[in-house]
Amino acid sequence: MKKVSYQKYGGVNELEITETPIPEITETTVLVKVKAVSINPLDWKILAGEMKLMSGSKFPKGIGIDFSGVVEAVGSSISRFKKGDAVLGSVDQFKGGALAEYVLVTEKDITIKPETISFEKAAAIPVVGFAALQIFNKVITVNKGTEVLINGATGGIGMFATQIAKTKGAILTAVVSEKGMDLAKKWGSDFVINYQKENILAGEKLYDVVIDLSGQIPFDKARAIMKARATYVNTIPGPKQIIESFLHNLFSKQKYKVLLSKPSVADLHTLVNNVNEGMDVVIAKTYRMDDFKEAYKEVPRGGILGKAVFILGE
Ligand SMILES: NC(=O)c1ccc[n+]([C@@H]2O[C@H](COP(=O)([O-])OP(=O)(O)OC[C@H]3O[C@@H](n4cnc5c(N)ncnc54)[C@H](OP(=O)(O)O)[C@@H]3O)[C@@H](O)[C@H]2O)c1
Repeated sequence: MKKVSYQKYGGVNELEITETPIPEITETTVLVKVKAVSINPLDWKILAGEMKLMSGSKFPKGIGIDFSGVVEAVGSSISRFKKGDAVLGSVDQFKGGALAEYVLVTEKDITIKPETISFEKAAAIPVVGFAALQIFNKVITVNKGTEVLINGATGGIGMFATQIAKTKGAILTAVVSEKGMDLAKKWGSDFVINYQKENILAGEKLYDVVIDLSGQIPFDKARAIMKARATYVNTIPGPKQIIESFLHNLFSKQKYKVLLSKPSVADLHTLVNNVNEGMDVVIAKTYRMDDFKEAYKEVPRGGILGKAVFILGE
């Protein structure tokens, strides 16, 4: 089978299409023929070796985390899935390898894809959906009337976070680029600010929650727009920020929270239900597997509203 992989950490030029054997099914695994794979910032951060502590030094490595596809075969102890089921899910984020013709996963990595959700939209759900859902369910409390600011509201996590914030009754300010303004309004944002024209930190308004998805507003700067008991969420924390947040929270009423999201089959069910019931998933751009170099050059440059996705097969 074809698989995009790399032999050492680096940039796009390390990526290549290789021919590898189709993984062998075991008693407890499910073999999925991949139909679509989404592109995440984690892909190129891991490729660059920015997360070596977790991703280790064993090569070759595959790229791609979340996928959708059709079950090709199941192990003898699998009862929840059968050949022919349409599914979506994710592989271990630090091992990668979804950008391949087949992936081998366990039952807890996947769920059934309803017919109402296309393969390309399904592949865009897991990684960013887990992050957005877990921000609201594990990191912060948002109720009716909570003043929330989301910086980077039309990216992958922003797409889900914006819509979840509105279902919780937040008064939402979305910070986006010029081309994302209409989408942020469509998703229900009460106020939309164009970061290319306005410096959000110079505004008078104070928020209960500031979620930075862009890495552009560190906690020290965000405090200028936070209420006395507000919470800040960093979704791109390194070890330094994790220690800083812990120490800071011992002494201040303003809270500094970090997101370390994890795959969860329960959360995947919730997200699929939400999308099935109308939550919007926007695919800004699609690529073929052979265009992997172009994709991993273009998408990191930004300007993608929602997600970019590889489509495999016909
Ligand atoms: N901690 C965790 O568990 C976890 C899990 C998943 C992802 N992440 C990380 O979380 C981050 C966001 O993920 P994502 O998938 O949502 O990424 P994304 O799709 O690339 O979204 C980032 C957003 O930031 C916006 N942006 C860029 N510069 C900005 C600026 N100066 N001011 C305001 N917004 C700006 C971008 O808008 P334009 O492109 O329109 O400029 C884009 O909408 C990534 O770094 C990712 O690695 C963390």
